Amino acid sequence: MTGGAGFGGAGAGGAGLLDAVRQRLAASGAEPTPARVAAALRAQGRLLGDAEVLGAAEELRCELIGTGPLEPLLADPAVTDVLVSAPDRVWVDRGAGLERAPVSFPDAAAVRRLAQRLAAVAGRRLDDARPWVDARLPDGTRMHAVLPPVAVGSTCLSLRVVRPRAFTLEELTTAGTVPPDGAPILRALIDARVSYLVSGGTGTGKTTLLASLLGLVGERERIVLAEDSAELRPDHPHVVRLEARPANQEGAGLVTLRDLVRQALRMRPDRLVVGEVRGPEAVDLLAALNTGHEGGSGTVHANTAADVPARLEALGTAAGLDRAALHSQLGAGLSVVVHLARDRDGRRRIAEVHVLERDRDGLVRTVPALRWGASGFARERGWERLRSLIGGGS
Ligand SMILES: Nc1ncnc2c1ncn2[C@@H]1O[C@H](COP(=O)(O)OP(=O)(O)OP(=O)(O)O)[C@@H](O)[C@H]1O
Ligand SMILES: [Mg+2]
Repeated sequence: MTGGAGFGGAGAGGAGLLDAVRQRLAASGAEPTPARVAAALRAQGRLLGDAEVLGAAEELRCELIGTGPLEPLLADPAVTDVLVSAPDRVWVDRGAGLERAPVSFPDAAAVRRLAQRLAAVAGRRLDDARPWVDARLPDGTRMHAVLPPVAVGSTCLSLRVVRPRAFTLEELTTAGTVPPDGAPILRALIDARVSYLVSGGTGTGKTTLLASLLGLVGERERIVLAEDSAELRPDHPHVVRLEARPANQEGAGLVTLRDLVRQALRMRPDRLVVGEVRGPEAVDLLAALNTGHEGGSGTVHANTAADVPARLEALGTAAGLDRAALHSQLGAGLSVVVHLARDRDGRRRIAEVHVLERDRDGLVRTVPALRWGASGFARERGWERLRSLIGGGS
């Protein structure tokens, strides 16, 4: 927390004074309450008027315990993502794609300070030796940051706001994410204990849709979640959440998603959920789905539903499972892929629902069953298979 030219427009004696106060507060390690900030300012031995002390105290407080210039953006309930790529380049997503936000940081050092402080709040390290961090803040916000020189030019900070409450299926229907005729099909999918993955590109709303679907799981069932960072907050009375963690500075204490999936299986889950399948845990999830843990689910990054088998194949073979075994587990364990995409206006919607089918050569492909057409879901070649999976409903 040193260096840097300080705040723009602090009006309380300039950068040197604020830096001194910053250091004093950082050294004391105490919570930077307004009173402590004011006391630290006064301790610099300069005569300041009340207005000046208050102004500087507020700026320092924002920097030390808030998110500084990002505060008003994060306070806007429509904002889901805030991305800082340079001190004067801040972008927000209000549901219609990225827009430039009219805020800026005084300098690159201020962005770095904010990223490091948020990382510290999340109990993680961010410095030259470990120049990136992916963590969750106490309020659930997910943060990612990369320091220069790895991030060329400026610290890159990405914040993802997590809603305190999951969307209901009705809300997702109203928002245009689920088509008007989609809710009964999704409900039937959950009731029939079909295993599914929610796929889509980055930020398409996979985690959000998965949380809503988990809210439909029967009250008497036990949901066990395994996540890299605990994001899923399904509205359900019986949820057990497990969260991975990185190794500490001595390199000890690493808990991987793979460890969590293995532990979750011993915890009598009625529904095993892997927040995001992106590594060797794909193998454990497929094994679980093949050994009586039906109704399991998760999310996976993929540009189209049809890419999901290839994506799982890449993850599984990297973890040592051979291709034929992987496809055989995939074909037997996973039944449906619900794919999300953002349309041209930036709106998140279920683009298609695919079922899985094994080819004559034993490889698994996906077959479109529903596609969001002009007026709701249009049935495609795989519809009959989907209908039989969900018990002939709708
Ligand atoms: N249908 C929706 N309407 C409005 N906001 C949404 C909707 N779906 C998701 N969001 C918001 O968009 C942001 C991204 O959603 P989410 O985290 O579910 O995406 P994701 O696809 O899981 O992202 P990632 O690729 O990072 O895992 C969140 O802040 C979420 O609250
Ligand atoms: Mg996600």
